[in-house]
Parts: sequence; structure tokens; C-alpha cells
Amino acid sequence: MKTTTADFSAMKERGEKISMITAYDYSTAKLVDASGINSILVGDSLGMVMLGYEDTLSVTMEDMIHHCAAVRRGAQNALVICDMPFMSYQTSVYDAVKNAGRLVKEGGAGAVKLEGGVKFKEHIRAIVDASIPVCGHVGMTPQSVNAFGGFKVQGKTIEAAQRLINDALAVQEAGAFAVVLECVPARLAEYISGLLDIPSIGIGAGAGCDGQVLVYQDALAMYSDFTPRFVKKFADVGAVMRRGFADYNDAVKGGTFPAEEHCFKIDQSVMNELMIREGGSV
Ligand code: KIV
Repeated sequence: MKTTTADFSAMKERGEKISMITAYDYSTAKLVDASGINSILVGDSLGMVMLGYEDTLSVTMEDMIHHCAAVRRGAQNALVICDMPFMSYQTSVYDAVKNAGRLVKEGGAGAVKLEGGVKFKEHIRAIVDASIPVCGHVGMTPQSVNAFGGFKVQGKTIEAAQRLINDALAVQEAGAFAVVLECVPARLAEYISGLLDIPSIGIGAGAGCDGQVLVYQDALAMYSDFTPRFVKKFADVGAVMRRGFADYNDAVKGGTFPAEEHCFKIDQSVMNELMIREGGSV
């Protein structure tokens, strides 16, 4: 059954937790979809974990469309949410609607996500008015890494906590169907989740959120450049891949791969005839 934004709000009402994880390609999307996870986020984190950038700022609309379309082809059931990359919506409300539309039309996204609260209320409302569901994202918003002076926990002072509450409420008032809370103290995130009618999806925001999201390479130990404290490793796929690659390398170098069962056959008579024509021997 295809998950919709209406299912998100029904899950919040029932007190059922919403599961979300990132994916950036067809094969991974199929695996995620088969697991029963409710939603796939095609995050602009792809800039770091797929493309090797230091942050998410260099990611383009073309990158997002390319990866989102691949994920969409692999996801039959999960709601596919695509991130709006840096400078695809900050520049104007017009750009926000136009680029959200591209993610839906060209990338096949079921919803878009953008970072920011009060300052982007008008942008969110305009996208929602264009019939495109929007997921907000407040707290530690990676596209503002330079303004924040690094990837830091948000909302720890009274002023910062109040700002965060205002941002989350602004996202809701603008018509978003959900909001990601990133790197927020757990008790504050739980309080905000209680204030909101829309579901909160936490990442580094504790168990009191209505759902959780993780970057899949973090959750499966496939990305070693940097692991945030809030990540739990659910499997050591990185170790399995390293071992598999090393075994393949050894087999190729040692001549044990390919074996007979991996080879295609040809009649000996054809080879004999060929050798006669070529003047060689078999
Ligand atoms: O880009 C991303 O993967 C995200 C999550 C960290 C929420 O925005």
C-alpha cells in the first residue's frame, strides 16, 4: 500500500511511529521499500555520502532530480520526499514553487522538503498552494552550516528554544504535512512534538518525536568520514562490503575467478574450425 501524507497524520493520531530513511538510487530504494519503512527521503545529504562533498551546499537541482527519479522507480510503497537543494528556494517564492514543481514532474517526488521556519513561511505556503506537499526542516539545518559555524545542536538557550518553537509552528501554519527536527535536545523536541498537530520526524532529537529519520549510510556503517553521536549502527554493511571487495580482488589476482560455472560454452567443433582458418591451435 502506497504511503501518503494523509497516512502520516493518521499515524500521528494513532500514536504510531513513522519510519523514514534516506536512499539515493534504485537498488537501495527497492531494499528500503521491501523492509516496510514508511518513507524514503532523497536527502541533499547525497552531496556528502554519495558525491563526497564536505557539506550539502554544492548539490544542484539536477543532482536531486537524477537521484530522486532513480529512487522513485524503486519505491512502490514508501512516500518519496525529495530535498530542495541550497539556493533552489531561498532566492524567491517563485523559484521555490518552480523548483518544487521540477522535483515532482522530473524527479517523481511525492513531496518536497526544505530547510527553515519563520523566514520561509511564504515559500512553503506557495508550494502547498501549488498542490505539492511540503515537509519542513528546523533545528540544525545543514544548508545553514556556515551561518551556524558548524554542525551544532540547536535550541539550548531560552531564546534559541523559543525561536525553534516559532519555526516549527510557522512551518505548520504554512501548510506543511510534517517537520523534521534535527539536532534538538530530546525534551525540547518532545515538547514541540506535543505542540504540533503535524508529525515531527526526529534526527538527533530523541524518542519523543512522532517519527525518526536517519541517513542510511550512517545506519548501516557505510560512511566513515564523520558519524554524528545520534547515529545507531543497525548493521555493519561497510565491513561486509570491504570483505567482499577484498575477496573479489584476491580471486581475480589469484585466477580463481571466474570459475567454469561463470563461463559461457562454445562447441569444440566451432573452435577447431576457427583454428584451422586462423592457422592456430586449440
Ligand atoms: O539530507 C538529509 O539526509 C536530511 C536528513 C538528515 C534529515 O535532511
